[in-house]
Amino acid sequence: MNIIFYHPTIDSKPWIEGIGQRLPQAQVRAWHRGDTCSADYALVWHPPQEMLAMRGELKGIFVMGAGVDAILTQEQRAPGTLPAGVPLIRLEDTGMALQMQEYALATVLRYFRRLDEYQLFQQQKQWRPLTAHQHGDFTIGILGAGVLGRAVAEKLTSLKFKVRSWSRTPKNQPGVESFYGKEQLNDFANGCKLLINLLPNTPQTAGVLNRNLFNQLAQQSYLVNLGRGTHLVEGDLLNALDSGQIAAATLDVFVREPMQRMHPFWSHPRVSITPHIGADTLPEEAMDSIVANIQAIEAGRTPIGLVDLARGY
Ligand code: NAP
Ligand code: GLV
Repeated sequence: MNIIFYHPTIDSKPWIEGIGQRLPQAQVRAWHRGDTCSADYALVWHPPQEMLAMRGELKGIFVMGAGVDAILTQEQRAPGTLPAGVPLIRLEDTGMALQMQEYALATVLRYFRRLDEYQLFQQQKQWRPLTAHQHGDFTIGILGAGVLGRAVAEKLTSLKFKVRSWSRTPKNQPGVESFYGKEQLNDFANGCKLLINLLPNTPQTAGVLNRNLFNQLAQQSYLVNLGRGTHLVEGDLLNALDSGQIAAATLDVFVREPMQRMHPFWSHPRVSITPHIGADTLPEEAMDSIVANIQAIEAGRTPIGLVDLARGY
C-alpha cells in the first residue's frame, strides 16, 4: 500500500513515521512536485492542484482537518482538481470537540461575567461593579449543529445557558432549541445575546455573519467566530460595533491568515483575536482515525467523516 502526504507548513516526518508504525505494510512518502508514481491514499492539507488531479487510482483522500473548504474551493475554481469518484474524508472530532468546548466556554464566561469590561476598568484604575448578566437574558445561538456545534451546545446547557442551534436539517438535542433552513435563520437569531459560528464554509454559508443577522440579535450582543473568515462580512461587524448593536467580538478565523498587520481588527478595543487555534489537529488522534478509516475502506466498510461533495461539507 502506498500513501502520499502533503502539508504546506508542518513537518511531515512525525506523520510519515506515525502512519508507518500504525500500518507496517504501507510505504508512506512526502509528496513533492513532479511525483506522479501511483498511490492508494493521500493525506493532505491545502494540497497544490497538481497533486491530486489525474489520481483516479486513489481509494481515499484524507483531509487533515475538519473543514474541507480549501480543497472544494480549489475544485470549484479548477474542476478536475479532485479525481472523480475518489472518497474525500475529513477529521470528525479527533480531539477537536473538547478544544472547541474549552474555547467557547472561556469566551462565553468572559462576556457573561463581564470580565472583558472589568479588564478595561482595571487599566483605568476604576472600581466599578456592573449589573451582572442573567441567564434568562443571555440566550446563546450556535450556527452549526454538527460534531463541533453540538459539543459546544452540550457544554453550555450543562451550565444552565439557554441555547439555540441553527442547521440545515432539524435536530433533537436535549436542552437545545433547534432552528433550521434559511427561512428560520431570523427567528433563530432573534433576541440572541451571544452568537457562536461553527458552520462549514460553503457557497450557502459564506457571508452569513452580516448586518441583517446582527440586527436580529439583542442590543449589545456578542459574536464569536470559530468557523471560517469567509462567514463574516467584516465591514458589517465594524459598523455594528460602532453602533453598539454588537458589544464585542472574538474572532479566531480570518479571510486572510495570518491577518495583515494593517487590519483594523488588531487594534479595535472590543475585538479579541486568536490565530486560528480554536481546535488544532491533534496528530496522534488524527493518525489513529485516518488509519482506522484506511482499514475500514480496505475491509469494504464506509469510513467515518465521508464528505458529501454536493453539500460541500
Ligand atoms: P459538521 O459536523 O459537518 O457540521 C456542520 C453543521 O453546519 C451541520 O449542523 C450542518 O447542518 C450545518 N450547516 C451546513 N450548511 C448549512 C446551511 N447552508 N445552513 C444551515 N446549516 C448548515 O462540521 P464540524 O465538524 O462541526 O465543523 C464545523 C466547522 O468548524 C468546520 O467546517 C470548520 O470550518 C470549523 N472549524 C474551525 C476550527 C478552528 O480552529 N477555528 C477547527 C475545526 C473546525 P446539518 O447538520 O443539517 O447537515
Ligand atoms: C481547522 O480549521 C479545521 O478545519 O480543522
